[in-house]
This record gives sequence, C-alpha cells and structure tokens, in this order.
Amino acid sequence: MTSVLFVCLGNICRSPTAHGVFQHYVDQAGLRDHIRVDSAGTGDWHIGKTPDARSQQAAKRRGYDLSGLRARQVTAQDLNQFDYVLAMDRSNLQVLNSWYRGEAGQAEPQLFLQAFGSGDELEVPDPYYGGEQGFDHVLDLIEHASAELLRDIQARL
Ligand code: 4NP
Repeated sequence: MTSVLFVCLGNICRSPTAHGVFQHYVDQAGLRDHIRVDSAGTGDWHIGKTPDARSQQAAKRRGYDLSGLRARQVTAQDLNQFDYVLAMDRSNLQVLNSWYRGEAGQAEPQLFLQAFGSGDELEVPDPYYGGEQGFDHVLDLIEHASAELLRDIQARL
C-alpha cells in the first residue's frame, strides 16, 4: 500500500481539494486497494468541518465530491504514517519540516507542485480570502500535479 497525505493550513480548501481529486484519479485507475489518500491542516480552527462550500462547489462542477471529507490537524506522527507528505505552500512545508529528522520510516515532506507540478508556480495559493476564480485556479494546479503524482506512484507499484 502506498499512502499519500496532502497538507495545507485549514484543511478546508486546498488539501481536501487535492484529497478529492487524487482519490478520484486513484479510483478511475482501479488502484483503490493500493493507494491510501488523506489530507490534514497545520491549523486547528476547522477540525471536524466539511470542506469550504466554495471548494465543494468548484470541485463539484468538475465532477469531484468533497462532501464526505472532514478536517483534521496534521501531527508529527503523520510523517511516519505516510509515504508521501505533500505541502501546498512553503509555510505548510516549514511546519512539516520542523518535525522531520531524516529517521527511518519518516517521509520527507515535499512541496506538492515542486515535486509534481510542471509550471512556474511552486505553491498552491490560499483561496480562502479571494474570489471564485481562486478556487478554479487551485483545481487547475491540483489536477495537473495529481496526474503526475499518480504516474510516479504507478511506475513504482
Ligand atoms: P486552506 O485555506 O489552508 O486551503 O484550507 C484556509 C482555510 C481557512 C483559513 C486559512 C486558509 N483560516 O484562516 O481560517
């Protein structure tokens, strides 16, 4: 089993979007029994909450259902529980790196778009305080990098 954890700040916009999109790709590829997907936030404000309504709507327009997801806070132990720990922006990465000791069994946190994106943008911008467009841009970046991530994992299976 390969496991993937997406991490952002609130776990209500970007990381649940990545969670839902990547899970959809995994399901379509018939790899549900081989790849485990989860998401979490560095902050604790939204624990237990469903994804932001704007993220859910933008995702739904492209065929992804985020309604079953609930926010949780990331912990240092998560580095030992997942093979891929993928941060949406540098500030998320900084929190994850503060726990990384390079120990056996610890995943080295990575910037999602740096590892699997292909454009100039290395961070998935926080859409929380912006307009609807921001949520579509988040989806564009995440769809592209998720396809790359799936190819990477498939090549290793
Ligand atoms: P996310 O967006 O990190 O993509 O889930 C945010 C959601 C909530 C807040 C910040 C970012 N907040 O400050 O409450």
